[in-house]
Amino acid sequence: TRDFLIAPSILSADFARLGAEVDDVLASGADIVHFDVMDNHYVPNLTIGPMVCEALRKHGVTAPIDAHLMVRPVDRLIGDFADAGASYITFHPEASDHIDRSLQLIRDAGCQSGLVFNPATPLSYLDYVMDKVDMILLMSVNPGFGGQSFIPGTLDKLHEVRRRIDASGRPIRLEIDGGVKVDNIAEIARAGADTFVAGSAVFKARNDADPNRYDSVMREF
Ligand code: DX5
Ligand code: ZN
Repeated sequence: TRDFLIAPSILSADFARLGAEVDDVLASGADIVHFDVMDNHYVPNLTIGPMVCEALRKHGVTAPIDAHLMVRPVDRLIGDFADAGASYITFHPEASDHIDRSLQLIRDAGCQSGLVFNPATPLSYLDYVMDKVDMILLMSVNPGFGGQSFIPGTLDKLHEVRRRIDASGRPIRLEIDGGVKVDNIAEIARAGADTFVAGSAVFKARNDADPNRYDSVMREF
C-alpha cells in the first residue's frame, strides 16, 4: 500500500495572513506545503519567491515545503530556495537549458529534486534522469493559475508515469497538480498518484466554525 500525502497549494490562500493560513491547514492534517513560484515569463502570472519561503520557516513552519518553480531560467533560483528552507524543488524541463545539471544542483543543495510535466510535455525527458529525481509532478492543468478544471487525459499519463516509477524500483513520489477535488481524488489515486496538490478545493472551503478552519475539508480529502 502507498502512503498518500496532501499538499495544499498556498496560491489560493489569503496572502494577507499567510502564516496563519499555513498553520491552520497543517493543523487540519495537511502533509506538505505546495509553494507555487511564477515569474510572468515562463507562465503569465507573478507570485512569490524565496523571501516568502524563508518567512514561513521563520514563522515556525516545519512541514516539508514543495517549491514548484514555474520560472525561466531555473538554475539561479535553486540556491536561493535551498537557503530559504525549501524541501523539494521541482522545475519544468523545457524551462532549463541543462536538465541534468539543474537536477544535480538541487541535490547538491541538499534538497529533493523533481521534474514537472505540463499536459502536453512528453515523458521522454525522464529517459536519462530517473536516478536523479525524487519526485515527478504531473500537471493536470496548464500552469499559471489556480481554480482550473482537471484535464481528463492526464489520467492515462499518470498510469504511464506510475509504470515508469515502478519499473525503476526507486522511491520516487508521484505528485499531481491542478483541479484536484474531493470528488475526483479517488480516481486520481487509482491512476497512480501518491501526492495530491489541492489549492482552491482546500482554501476556498475554509470554515471559521472549525477549530482549525480547514478540518472539515481536510477530513473529506
Ligand atoms: C497552477 C499551480 C497549482 C495550482 C493548483 O499553475 O501549479 O499548484 O495552485 O490550484 P487548483 O487546485 O485550484 O487547481
Ligand atoms: Zn503547483
